[in-house]
Amino acid sequence: LTVAILAGGLSHERDVSLRSGRRVAGVLRDQGVTVRVLDVDASLVAQLQEMAPDVVWPLVHGSSGEDGSLQDLLTLLDLPYVGSEPAACRLASHKPVAKALLRQAGLPTPDHAALPQSLFREVGARTLLGAVERKIGLPLAVKPASGGSALGVTVVERSEDLPEAMVACFAYGDEALLEHAVRGTEVAVSVVDLGDGPRALPAVEIVTEGPYDYDARYNPGRSEYFVPARLDEAGTRTVGELAVAVHRTLGLRHLSRTDMILDEDGVAWFLDVNVSPGMTETSLFPQAVQADHASLGDLYMDLVRAAQQ
Ligand code: DAL
Repeated sequence: LTVAILAGGLSHERDVSLRSGRRVAGVLRDQGVTVRVLDVDASLVAQLQEMAPDVVWPLVHGSSGEDGSLQDLLTLLDLPYVGSEPAACRLASHKPVAKALLRQAGLPTPDHAALPQSLFREVGARTLLGAVERKIGLPLAVKPASGGSALGVTVVERSEDLPEAMVACFAYGDEALLEHAVRGTEVAVSVVDLGDGPRALPAVEIVTEGPYDYDARYNPGRSEYFVPARLDEAGTRTVGELAVAVHRTLGLRHLSRTDMILDEDGVAWFLDVNVSPGMTETSLFPQAVQADHASLGDLYMDLVRAAQQ
């Protein structure tokens, strides 16, 4: 069995992706699989054609790895791959689109406004931010409309801090999502879907001193994780059901991870979903697999086999 892992690329999450790629490659090699980790650059198509792998696993986070572009390329090349198909990736990776679809389906997601940078130039920042504050209120989570690992994300408590948060956000993309910042327990629920229906893995609860930012995500010891999350039966059911409903509603395939907040009234609020969740040493998907008493090797092999079907 030969597997090509796609990692790196030009995304802001390049380093995370390389770490994910190396880790998954190591696990698959231990299972006897022949693995090559390919960077997403001008030599990619030639390398894929030369290798002709049985399965490709796109592990590029953000941009082309999650917005459906690489999946489109693999479809063009007739190569089976792990993960969601192009249209589903497009819907899921654009946070405002995903939120709108999930809200239509009756799932809770915080109020938001999606604003392109061009509108700020046309209408003026003061007018726009004033309107958002009146309609949605503070605190606001300001984040790029696409992308992950909390890059460009700021939670703003005071109006005077909004302009700086917008600048940080637009450094990572030209569309911003301003979302009401719901208070509660930060939870991530991974879903595995091997063709017999999506199944939620144990929820991961994230506890950090400050924000759960890039540094807190990828430096061991900076965040505390509880797996399974310290939730009662109802809370556990609610977060699992939300993750499965998100996976189904957006038409995802094989695996996903939904990040959410469980508030004190027991409502789980959708924040975002990752079609190529991180697989590094500190990432949440592998932690959930291990808490499910499954071996990473067995599960990754199941995902590769599901891609072959
Ligand atoms: N976007 C990163 C890789 C994650 O959420 O795991």
